Amino acid sequence: MSGPISKSDQSFLRQFSMVILFLMLVALTLIFLAWHIYSEAPKDSVGNTRQDTEQRIKPVAGVYAGKSGFAAIQAAQAAADKAAAGKVAYGGTTDGKAIYDHLCHSCHTAGIAGAPRLGDKAAWKARIAEGIATLVKHAEDGYTGPDGNHMPARGGNPALSDAQVAAAVKWMVSQSK
Ligand code: HEC
Repeated sequence: MSGPISKSDQSFLRQFSMVILFLMLVALTLIFLAWHIYSEAPKDSVGNTRQDTEQRIKPVAGVYAGKSGFAAIQAAQAAADKAAAGKVAYGGTTDGKAIYDHLCHSCHTAGIAGAPRLGDKAAWKARIAEGIATLVKHAEDGYTGPDGNHMPARGGNPALSDAQVAAAVKWMVSQSK
């Protein structure tokens, strides 16, 4: 069994070491490829430090405390009230005169843009004859008269409710008969 390596053993060893070398090259290529892909991939953008976590839970865990906290609560309440009031025109009043004084008077008192003036019986006679329902509808949807004068829908305030428009129209009509 001893002695010089036989010819067939020699050729086996050569081929075997070539296979090993080839596999090592494949392994190195894969390692390099994996490293390359990883370095190109976008990094996780969600931080995991304590600061990041506190930032994330802040709105839930926010606590108003002390004097400045009380002021903050009041400011938030005031802002919420204001936002809610914006959706209901003039505090939701259905007092026709109050709504007129807030909005409609800007055209209908002086007769701006061809608007029939409040109390101008001649200007209102034919309109009143159309019936209150038509007048209310025209005030809600907007209306362009035969002379091309335009009454904007809800006097230009979309927050005005149907009931508020109707109340204002009725009050205007009652003042113009
Ligand atoms: C920007 C000016 C303007 C404002 C603000 C305005 N109007 Fe008018 N309104 C007009 C004009 C102009 C006409 C006349 C249109 C026409 O030629 O018939 C008119 C006509 C009307 C008519 C008669 C419609 C008809 O069928 O003859 C009614 C009712 C009316 N307005 C109600 C209101 C009410 C209620 C408001 C407030 C919520 C209001 N208007 C605010 C300009 C205005």
